[in-house]
Amino acid sequence: MGKMAAAVGSVVSLATEPGEDAFRKLFRFYRQSRPGTADLGAVIDFSAAHTARGTGPGARKVIRSQLSVSSVSDHDAHRAGLQPVSKWQAYGLQGYPGYQWHWVKQCLKLYSQKPNVCNLDKHMTKEETQDLWEQSKEFLRYKESNKQRRRSLLEKLRWVTLGYHYNWDSKKYSADHYTPFPSDLAFLSEQVAAACGFQGFRAQAGILNYYRLDSTLGIHVDRSELDHSKPLLSFSFGQSAIFLLGGLKRDEAPTAMFMHSGDIMVMSGFSRLLNHAVPRVLPSPQGEGLPCCLETPLPAVLLKDSVVEPCSEEDWQVCTSYLKTARVNMTVRQVLAIDQDFPSEPTEENKRDITTEGFCHLDDENRQLKRTKLNPDS
Ligand code: OGA
Ligand code: MN
Repeated sequence: MGKMAAAVGSVVSLATEPGEDAFRKLFRFYRQSRPGTADLGAVIDFSAAHTARGTGPGARKVIRSQLSVSSVSDHDAHRAGLQPVSKWQAYGLQGYPGYQWHWVKQCLKLYSQKPNVCNLDKHMTKEETQDLWEQSKEFLRYKESNKQRRRSLLEKLRWVTLGYHYNWDSKKYSADHYTPFPSDLAFLSEQVAAACGFQGFRAQAGILNYYRLDSTLGIHVDRSELDHSKPLLSFSFGQSAIFLLGGLKRDEAPTAMFMHSGDIMVMSGFSRLLNHAVPRVLPSPQGEGLPCCLETPLPAVLLKDSVVEPCSEEDWQVCTSYLKTARVNMTVRQVLAIDQDFPSEPTEENKRDITTEGFCHLDDENRQLKRTKLNPDS
């Protein structure tokens, strides 16, 4: 830390040019730096990260990351002029977690509030579900000293719907059950969609899933949205899960993949209507711990036009206590194509002509069934 302070001190001692930002300041600092002096003390040296030399301030930011050794044969590595993957060393940098804390806090503190809809509404009054966060935060903050306690309301939360609220019974969205979609989540979604080639994506509906370590999400296809040409975005936080991505039909064996905290899955094109499921949420390898990408101090400053807001230490304590044994997943959907409207409800007369087959998919039914598993309290 001493070296870091020295380096930062030197940077600070440089005269700030008008309109200069933090990046530009360090750019100038390193342009002028003197090799062999303390100037370079804060530069991360990956080759020294796990040796005695690797004790500089930067070394603490470096984490070893795992490679998929079995994905590349020694022979293919050799053909490419590379060592076997088992000899490679891969590193990640701590402190580049993005702003996961913001979304976790929104899911727990803000999006769980009315007018959004949640699984607890079925059994509880509006007053009782009005502020799940307020009712749960002290329980959660003192969870460790209080293992035998009842579960807090936040721990009983299983799903929240946003925007056009998904109706689990009819498996439909409708024009008359809509509340404003959170603007920060809409903005995040639009950026991610655009980066994937979907300019003009509109975040119109969200399903937030709150998993405990024993929760599962059954095999299903998300086909209730009316425009399947738009992607479905899925953001994961907290404990890792195994995600199974199958085919168009259930008889196709799925591919298993980890979904770690901070991962974003985009289901688009052919994969938009594939079967998928979450059969397992994995407990933290350290017992009740946080993924290391979440073990980072909250930033002191944010951009002036940031859509993410500051998070207090106190709020983050509640979130981390919750996340030690939980996973939160946000899925964001565009329901309607531009200029599309919901179909008008069939008249009583016409209803008789609609076979159940047309409206009720086995997959969806199955999903509903398993949702109940994710949602033991509804
Ligand atoms: C969903 C969904 C997957 C996940 O909500 O439709 O598939 O990773 N979620 O929780
Ligand atoms: Mn899904």
